Amino acid sequence: MHRDLLGIRGLPKDDILRILSRSDHFIQLLDQTEPPVYPDLLKNRTVANLFFENSTRTRSSFELAENRLGADVLSLAMQSSSVAKGESLIDTLKVITAMRIDVVVVRHQSAGVPQLLRKHLKDSIRIINGGDGANEHPTQALLDAATLIEMFGSLEGKRIAIIGDIKHSRVARSNILLLSQLGMKITVVGPSTLIPRAFANVFGVTVEHSIDRALANSDVVMALRIQRERQDRALFPDVQEFRDRYGITAKRCRAYPTLPILHPGPANRGVELDDETADSEHSMMYRQVTRGVAVRMAVLEWLYSEQ
Ligand code: CP
Repeated sequence: MHRDLLGIRGLPKDDILRILSRSDHFIQLLDQTEPPVYPDLLKNRTVANLFFENSTRTRSSFELAENRLGADVLSLAMQSSSVAKGESLIDTLKVITAMRIDVVVVRHQSAGVPQLLRKHLKDSIRIINGGDGANEHPTQALLDAATLIEMFGSLEGKRIAIIGDIKHSRVARSNILLLSQLGMKITVVGPSTLIPRAFANVFGVTVEHSIDRALANSDVVMALRIQRERQDRALFPDVQEFRDRYGITAKRCRAYPTLPILHPGPANRGVELDDETADSEHSMMYRQVTRGVAVRMAVLEWLYSEQ
Protein backbone atom coordinates (compact mmCIF):
# COMPACT_ATOMS: atom_id res chain seq x y z
CA MET A 1 0.00 0.00 0.00
CA HIS A 2 1.30 3.46 -0.93
CA ARG A 3 1.08 6.24 1.61
CA ASP A 4 0.14 9.88 0.94
CA LEU A 5 -0.42 12.76 3.35
CA LEU A 6 -3.39 14.55 1.80
CA GLY A 7 -4.78 15.90 5.07
CA ILE A 8 -5.30 15.18 8.75
CA ARG A 9 -8.79 14.05 7.74
CA GLY A 10 -8.35 10.38 6.90
CA LEU A 11 -4.98 10.01 8.65
CA PRO A 12 -5.34 7.20 11.24
CA LYS A 13 -4.54 8.16 14.83
CA ASP A 14 -1.85 5.44 15.00
CA ASP A 15 -0.06 7.12 12.09
CA ILE A 16 -0.38 10.55 13.75
CA LEU A 17 1.19 9.19 16.94
CA ARG A 18 3.91 7.43 14.98
CA ILE A 19 4.88 10.59 13.06
CA LEU A 20 4.87 12.68 16.27
CA SER A 21 6.97 10.13 18.09
CA ARG A 22 9.53 9.89 15.27
CA SER A 23 9.69 13.69 15.07
CA ASP A 24 11.05 13.58 18.63
CA HIS A 25 13.95 11.48 17.37
CA PHE A 26 14.68 13.96 14.57
CA ILE A 27 14.39 17.03 16.83
CA GLN A 28 17.05 15.49 19.09
CA LEU A 29 19.37 15.31 16.09
CA LEU A 30 18.52 18.92 15.14
CA ASP A 31 19.02 20.18 18.71
CA GLN A 32 22.36 18.50 19.39
CA THR A 33 25.47 20.65 19.43
CA GLU A 34 27.63 18.17 17.50
CA PRO A 35 27.03 18.11 13.71
CA PRO A 36 24.36 15.42 13.37
CA VAL A 37 24.58 12.36 11.13
CA TYR A 38 21.20 11.91 9.45
CA PRO A 39 20.01 8.57 8.05
CA ASP A 40 19.89 8.60 4.23
CA LEU A 41 16.39 7.12 4.13
CA LEU A 42 15.55 8.83 0.83
CA LYS A 43 18.76 7.95 -1.03
CA ASN A 44 17.99 7.49 -4.76
CA ARG A 45 14.52 9.00 -4.30
CA THR A 46 13.57 12.27 -5.96
CA VAL A 47 11.20 14.74 -4.31
CA ALA A 48 9.57 17.62 -6.22
CA ASN A 49 8.40 20.62 -4.21
CA LEU A 50 5.73 22.34 -6.29
CA PHE A 51 4.62 25.58 -4.68
CA PHE A 52 1.91 27.47 -6.57
CA GLU A 53 1.56 29.85 -3.59
CA ASN A 54 4.24 31.74 -1.70
CA SER A 55 5.96 30.04 1.21
CA THR A 56 9.00 30.55 3.41
CA ARG A 57 8.66 28.02 6.25
CA THR A 58 6.97 25.06 4.58
CA ARG A 59 9.01 25.06 1.41
CA SER A 60 12.41 25.60 3.03
CA SER A 61 11.79 23.11 5.83
CA PHE A 62 10.66 20.44 3.35
CA GLU A 63 13.80 21.11 1.29
CA LEU A 64 16.02 20.79 4.36
CA ALA A 65 14.23 17.65 5.53
CA GLU A 66 14.55 16.05 2.07
CA ASN A 67 18.23 16.97 1.71
CA ARG A 68 19.06 15.74 5.20
CA LEU A 69 17.44 12.38 4.44
CA GLY A 70 19.50 12.04 1.27
CA ALA A 71 16.88 12.72 -1.42
CA ASP A 72 17.45 14.41 -4.78
CA VAL A 73 15.38 17.59 -4.55
CA LEU A 74 13.64 19.56 -7.28
CA SER A 75 12.01 22.79 -6.13
CA LEU A 76 9.96 24.89 -8.52
CA ALA A 77 8.31 28.26 -7.99
CA MET A 78 5.23 27.39 -10.02
CA GLN A 79 4.29 31.05 -10.56
CA SER A 80 7.15 31.12 -13.09
CA SER A 81 6.38 27.71 -14.67
CA SER A 82 4.59 27.04 -17.96
CA VAL A 83 1.29 27.13 -16.07
CA ALA A 84 1.61 30.88 -16.71
CA LYS A 85 1.55 30.12 -20.48
CA GLY A 86 -1.73 28.23 -20.21
CA GLU A 87 -0.59 24.65 -19.55
CA SER A 88 -3.13 22.91 -17.31
CA LEU A 89 -2.26 21.94 -13.74
CA ILE A 90 -2.62 18.23 -14.50
CA ASP A 91 -0.50 18.41 -17.67
CA THR A 92 2.21 20.33 -15.83
CA LEU A 93 2.26 17.76 -13.03
CA LYS A 94 2.36 14.87 -15.50
CA VAL A 95 5.33 16.50 -17.26
CA ILE A 96 7.23 16.96 -14.00
CA THR A 97 6.49 13.50 -12.68
CA ALA A 98 7.53 11.95 -16.04
CA MET A 99 11.08 12.97 -14.97
CA ARG A 100 11.02 9.99 -12.55
CA ILE A 101 9.77 11.73 -9.42
CA ASP A 102 8.95 9.65 -6.34
CA VAL A 103 7.28 12.23 -4.06
CA VAL A 104 5.38 15.45 -4.82
CA VAL A 105 4.94 18.11 -2.14
CA VAL A 106 2.28 20.49 -3.41
CA ARG A 107 0.97 23.83 -2.20
CA HIS A 108 -1.90 25.37 -4.14
CA GLN A 109 -4.37 28.20 -3.64
CA SER A 110 -7.32 25.91 -4.48
CA ALA A 111 -8.73 23.47 -1.95
CA GLY A 112 -8.65 19.84 -3.11
CA VAL A 113 -5.61 19.98 -5.43
CA PRO A 114 -3.70 17.17 -3.59
CA GLN A 115 -6.76 14.91 -3.93
CA LEU A 116 -7.07 15.86 -7.63
CA LEU A 117 -3.42 14.95 -8.21
CA ARG A 118 -3.96 11.62 -6.44
CA LYS A 119 -6.59 10.79 -9.09
CA HIS A 120 -4.36 11.75 -12.02
CA LEU A 121 -0.81 10.76 -11.05
CA LYS A 122 0.61 7.22 -11.05
CA ASP A 123 -0.08 5.28 -7.84
CA SER A 124 3.63 4.91 -7.15
CA ILE A 125 4.06 8.71 -6.78
CA ARG A 126 3.47 9.77 -3.18
CA ILE A 127 1.78 13.07 -2.49
CA ILE A 128 2.14 15.41 0.48
CA ASN A 129 -0.19 18.36 0.95
CA GLY A 130 1.84 21.49 1.70
CA GLY A 131 -1.35 23.57 2.10
CA ASP A 132 -4.41 23.64 -0.17
CA GLY A 133 -6.49 26.83 -0.18
CA ALA A 134 -8.48 27.20 3.03
CA ASN A 135 -8.80 23.43 3.38
CA GLU A 136 -5.85 21.74 5.13
CA HIS A 137 -2.20 22.16 6.08
CA PRO A 138 -1.45 18.80 7.69
CA THR A 139 2.29 19.17 8.34
CA GLN A 140 1.64 22.54 10.07
CA ALA A 141 -0.84 20.85 12.43
CA LEU A 142 1.61 18.02 13.10
CA LEU A 143 4.40 20.46 13.95
CA ASP A 144 2.05 22.46 16.17
CA ALA A 145 1.04 19.27 17.99
CA ALA A 146 4.70 18.31 18.39
CA THR A 147 5.44 21.76 19.86
CA LEU A 148 2.51 21.46 22.28
CA ILE A 149 3.51 17.93 23.38
CA GLU A 150 7.04 19.18 24.04
CA MET A 151 5.55 21.81 26.41
CA PHE A 152 2.77 19.84 28.09
CA GLY A 153 3.45 16.13 27.65
CA SER A 154 -0.10 14.76 27.34
CA LEU A 155 -2.57 17.12 25.64
CA GLU A 156 -5.59 15.36 27.15
CA GLY A 157 -7.93 18.02 28.63
CA LYS A 158 -5.64 20.96 27.77
CA ARG A 159 -7.47 24.05 26.46
CA ILE A 160 -6.35 25.90 23.34
CA ALA A 161 -7.84 29.11 21.90
CA ILE A 162 -7.31 29.58 18.15
CA ILE A 163 -7.72 33.29 17.48
CA GLY A 164 -8.34 35.34 14.34
CA ASP A 165 -9.19 34.51 10.74
CA ILE A 166 -10.68 31.06 11.29
CA LYS A 167 -12.78 31.23 8.11
CA HIS A 168 -9.85 31.30 5.69
CA SER A 169 -7.41 29.22 7.72
CA ARG A 170 -6.28 25.77 6.61
CA VAL A 171 -4.07 25.79 9.72
CA ALA A 172 -7.16 26.12 11.95
CA ARG A 173 -8.97 23.26 10.17
CA SER A 174 -6.04 20.83 10.32
CA ASN A 175 -5.27 21.75 13.92
CA ILE A 176 -8.88 21.29 15.02
CA LEU A 177 -8.97 17.85 13.36
CA LEU A 178 -5.66 16.84 14.93
CA LEU A 179 -5.71 18.42 18.39
CA SER A 180 -9.24 17.18 19.12
CA GLN A 181 -8.01 13.62 18.46
CA LEU A 182 -5.27 14.22 21.03
CA GLY A 183 -7.85 15.24 23.64
CA MET A 184 -7.57 19.04 23.55
CA LYS A 185 -10.55 21.30 24.23
CA ILE A 186 -10.66 23.83 21.39
CA THR A 187 -12.17 27.32 21.34
CA VAL A 188 -12.16 29.42 18.18
CA VAL A 189 -12.08 33.17 18.75
CA GLY A 190 -12.82 36.08 16.43
CA PRO A 191 -15.53 38.27 14.95
CA SER A 192 -18.55 36.38 13.65
CA THR A 193 -17.59 37.38 10.07
CA LEU A 194 -14.37 35.35 10.41
CA ILE A 195 -15.93 32.24 11.99
CA PRO A 196 -18.23 30.21 9.70
CA ARG A 197 -21.66 29.70 11.26
CA ALA A 198 -21.48 25.90 10.98
CA PHE A 199 -18.06 25.59 12.62
CA ALA A 200 -19.25 24.67 16.11
CA ASN A 201 -21.51 21.88 14.82
CA VAL A 202 -19.18 20.54 12.14
CA PHE A 203 -16.00 20.53 14.22
CA GLY A 204 -17.39 20.34 17.77
CA VAL A 205 -15.47 23.41 18.94
CA THR A 206 -16.58 26.25 21.23
CA VAL A 207 -17.04 29.66 19.60
CA GLU A 208 -16.00 32.74 21.61
CA HIS A 209 -16.10 36.41 20.56
CA SER A 210 -14.19 37.86 23.53
CA ILE A 211 -10.41 37.45 23.39
CA ASP A 212 -10.09 38.42 27.05
CA ARG A 213 -12.41 35.60 28.17
CA ALA A 214 -10.54 33.23 25.86
CA LEU A 215 -7.12 34.18 27.26
CA ALA A 216 -8.38 33.76 30.82
CA ASN A 217 -9.69 30.26 30.08
CA SER A 218 -6.86 28.74 28.03
CA ASP A 219 -3.67 26.80 28.66
CA VAL A 220 -2.21 27.93 25.33
CA VAL A 221 -3.25 30.21 22.45
CA MET A 222 -2.62 30.18 18.72
CA ALA A 223 -2.89 33.45 16.78
CA LEU A 224 -3.66 33.32 13.06
CA ARG A 225 -2.84 35.74 10.27
CA ILE A 226 -5.59 37.76 8.61
CA GLN A 227 -5.59 36.27 5.09
CA ARG A 228 -6.45 39.28 2.98
CA GLU A 229 -5.56 37.37 -0.21
CA ARG A 230 -8.52 35.02 0.43
CA GLN A 231 -11.02 37.77 1.33
CA ASP A 232 -13.17 39.26 -1.43
CA ARG A 233 -14.74 41.91 0.82
CA ALA A 234 -14.01 43.71 4.09
CA LEU A 235 -14.87 41.36 6.97
CA PHE A 236 -13.90 43.76 9.78
CA PRO A 237 -13.84 47.56 9.92
CA ASP A 238 -10.08 48.10 9.90
CA VAL A 239 -6.80 46.61 11.05
CA GLN A 240 -6.58 48.88 14.10
CA GLU A 241 -9.98 47.77 15.33
CA PHE A 242 -9.08 44.12 14.72
CA ARG A 243 -5.89 44.56 16.77
CA ASP A 244 -7.78 46.23 19.62
CA ARG A 245 -10.47 43.55 19.75
CA TYR A 246 -8.61 40.38 18.75
CA GLY A 247 -4.87 41.07 18.79
CA ILE A 248 -2.58 39.61 21.44
CA THR A 249 -1.33 43.07 22.27
CA ALA A 250 1.64 43.81 24.53
CA LYS A 251 -0.85 44.63 27.34
CA ARG A 252 -2.63 41.29 26.96
CA CYS A 253 0.72 39.49 26.69
CA ARG A 254 1.88 41.06 29.98
CA ALA A 255 -1.40 40.12 31.68
CA TYR A 256 -0.68 36.40 31.01
CA PRO A 257 3.11 36.21 31.37
CA THR A 258 3.38 32.43 31.20
CA LEU A 259 0.67 31.66 28.62
CA PRO A 260 2.39 30.00 25.62
CA ILE A 261 1.63 31.69 22.29
CA LEU A 262 1.84 29.87 18.98
CA HIS A 263 1.66 31.40 15.52
CA PRO A 264 2.11 29.39 12.31
CA GLY A 265 3.58 32.40 10.51
CA PRO A 266 3.88 34.53 8.56
CA ALA A 267 2.83 36.96 11.31
CA ASN A 268 1.47 40.44 10.76
CA ARG A 269 3.17 42.28 13.61
CA GLY A 270 0.96 45.05 14.95
CA VAL A 271 -2.19 43.19 13.87
CA GLU A 272 -2.67 39.75 15.45
CA LEU A 273 0.50 40.07 17.58
CA ASP A 274 2.42 43.08 18.86
CA ASP A 275 6.22 43.02 18.58
CA GLU A 276 6.51 42.49 22.32
CA THR A 277 4.22 39.45 22.10
CA ALA A 278 6.00 37.92 19.11
CA ASP A 279 9.39 38.35 20.78
CA SER A 280 8.35 37.40 24.31
CA GLU A 281 9.85 34.40 26.08
CA HIS A 282 6.53 32.57 25.89
CA SER A 283 6.21 33.00 22.13
CA MET A 284 6.78 29.58 20.53
CA MET A 285 7.04 30.86 16.94
CA TYR A 286 10.66 29.91 16.34
CA ARG A 287 10.41 26.59 18.16
CA GLN A 288 7.50 25.76 15.83
CA VAL A 289 9.79 26.42 12.86
CA THR A 290 12.49 24.04 14.17
CA ARG A 291 9.85 21.45 14.99
CA GLY A 292 8.64 21.86 11.40
CA VAL A 293 11.87 20.43 10.00
CA ALA A 294 11.74 17.46 12.39
CA VAL A 295 8.08 16.73 11.63
CA ARG A 296 8.67 16.88 7.88
CA MET A 297 11.59 14.46 8.24
CA ALA A 298 9.25 12.14 10.17
CA VAL A 299 6.54 12.44 7.51
CA LEU A 300 9.00 11.63 4.72
CA GLU A 301 10.26 8.62 6.70
CA TRP A 302 6.65 7.48 7.33
CA LEU A 303 5.85 7.58 3.59
CA TYR A 304 8.27 4.71 3.01
CA SER A 305 8.09 2.87 6.34
CA GLU A 306 6.51 -0.54 6.95
CA GLN A 307 2.77 -0.56 7.75
N1 CP B 1 3.08 28.40 8.18
C1 CP B 1 3.30 28.41 6.85
O1 CP B 1 2.72 27.62 6.08
O2 CP B 1 4.22 29.33 6.46
P1 CP B 1 4.74 29.55 4.97
O3 CP B 1 3.59 30.15 4.18
O4 CP B 1 5.90 30.47 5.08
O5 CP B 1 5.10 28.20 4.40
